[in-house]
Amino acid sequence: MVTPVVDIHAHFFPRITRGQGAMLGSAGPWLRDDGDGTGQLMVGSDEYRPVEASLWDPALRVAQMDEHGIDIQIVSATPLLFGYRADPVVARSWARLVNDLALEMCADYPDRLRPLCQVPLQDVDRACAEASRAVAAGHVGVHVGTQVSGRNLDDPELERFLHYCAKEGIPVLVHPWEPVGADRMSHHMLQWIVGMPAETHLAILSLILSGAFERLPQELRLCFAHGGGSFVAQLGRADNAWHRRDLVRADCPDPPSHYTDRFSVDSVVLGDEALRLLVSVMGSERVMLGSDSPFPLGEEHPGKLVRGSAFLDDRQRTAVLGSNAIQFFDL
Ligand code: CO
Repeated sequence: MVTPVVDIHAHFFPRITRGQGAMLGSAGPWLRDDGDGTGQLMVGSDEYRPVEASLWDPALRVAQMDEHGIDIQIVSATPLLFGYRADPVVARSWARLVNDLALEMCADYPDRLRPLCQVPLQDVDRACAEASRAVAAGHVGVHVGTQVSGRNLDDPELERFLHYCAKEGIPVLVHPWEPVGADRMSHHMLQWIVGMPAETHLAILSLILSGAFERLPQELRLCFAHGGGSFVAQLGRADNAWHRRDLVRADCPDPPSHYTDRFSVDSVVLGDEALRLLVSVMGSERVMLGSDSPFPLGEEHPGKLVRGSAFLDDRQRTAVLGSNAIQFFDL
């Protein structure tokens, strides 16, 4: 049997009306469909980002997947929809709305589109409840940000959520959001180019250096977007710091490189040399195809980088293109 090709990092933005978006306040996110195959992500009355209809139209999306040879897409909401700053009760209703719209969007293509839910992570009890409700309803895992209102993933409450996901067997995809240093990156999309990789780097190291992986069960299925951001390229720096400064190793008994078998990453690094380093550091069994489509900062032709990489042998390529994801998400 031929292994299906699975893209684990692709976004949707459901048809949220301005009225629904107002649940999150006057700058609430909503979708303006301009009716010509394009639209705008809106925050209140302001345009946030121009988008194409494949972001919300499942038929267009599946047609694009056919074009790119992608069999299954694991879709997650645009992080703009996380709603982590809202009142927890509102955030729970919001997450339910987004999650139910995601199921609706995927319903006509149950073998092609599989959604990840989002949760009101500012309130971990409600987040656990919504994760379980959504998974029972058909979501294949949960999609969370790298931080919640300035709390890193090693925050005891956020760690408690990861314990819950491990216990319940819910796969977790971590996506950068509200990147560190954003106040100095207001131009040229620097928040996305510099901030997001730094943010993901911070998320991974906060888990490692806090000793969280010593406490979290091995069974936890955890994946970081964008190839783990800057983490892999700077792993030597983290290891060196761990060896040379007691401050760095205070809570973490082994050097950071010891923990690369505790999580996976996607392949969204957009360069052949970067992918080679990623596979060499993480191992081909811990890299899963991602595209970040349909956004322009993702891979223009999803799968092309992995398919064209000369350094992967057939077994490794099949693993990255699909079999790792099938195992990770229990497809
Ligand atoms: Co993304």
